[in-house]
Amino acid sequence: MLAGFRRSARLVANHLQDAWLGISTTGTAPAELPGHVYYATVSYSTTWSVLRKLDLGQEDVFVDVGCGKGRVLCLAARHRIRQAIGIEYSPALAAAGQRNIRQLRGRRSPAKILCQAAEDSDYSDASVLYFFNPFEAHLLNRVLEKIRADRRGRPARMAFVMELQEQRKVFSRHDWLACDERFEDQDRHTVALYRSVGVDRPDTASLRSTPPVDD
Ligand SMILES: C[S@@+](CC[C@H](N)C(=O)[O-])C[C@H]1O[C@@H](n2cnc3c(N)ncnc32)[C@H](O)[C@@H]1O
Repeated sequence: MLAGFRRSARLVANHLQDAWLGISTTGTAPAELPGHVYYATVSYSTTWSVLRKLDLGQEDVFVDVGCGKGRVLCLAARHRIRQAIGIEYSPALAAAGQRNIRQLRGRRSPAKILCQAAEDSDYSDASVLYFFNPFEAHLLNRVLEKIRADRRGRPARMAFVMELQEQRKVFSRHDWLACDERFEDQDRHTVALYRSVGVDRPDTASLRSTPPVDD
């Protein structure tokens, strides 16, 4: 009963914060392809606390991988950073996100959405990456490999919200990433914070030699 009341209160709070920011990001939308996760959001309070921990600075390019309607992207763009970028496969969600960027109150930094598959995106400039459980483990593995290749040893920080066992296993195979912190938000989602390590040896950093994740 109390849990139900808290959930409803958070729902109302999310609508109010959307209204305060001038954007519209609530609701859900079905996944476009097998392996993708449907559109949904975590509470604003979780997102704020994750962004605080990511400690965005003026040199950062923030990327929300699977950005949906762009709530997190909009919050990142209210910081002074180099750029906020959202990657979203669904054209309808990407269009909603573009509208939100245009309407966002208090934007301090450039922001844009790229409507494309995360596994085919270019992460050369991405210093901070945010994931809210966008896809299944095999796609996460491909995206992490792509990020590592594109960054060529330059540092990256990451947050993964709603990390499940299968995704944690994928991260553990990427020995160029170390987990700094893991905590539970008020909805009991596991949030994991990673950063790249061994950036001085980009050509030798490799995947741990455990069996590959099936594509
Ligand atoms: C759980 S939602 C997260 C939305 C957003 N990051 C947020 O926190 O508000 C996952 C999003 O990832 C998108 N997505 C799933 N697979 C994708 C892929 N391979 N490439 C790009 N976007 C993808 C979905 O369309 C969906 O909008």
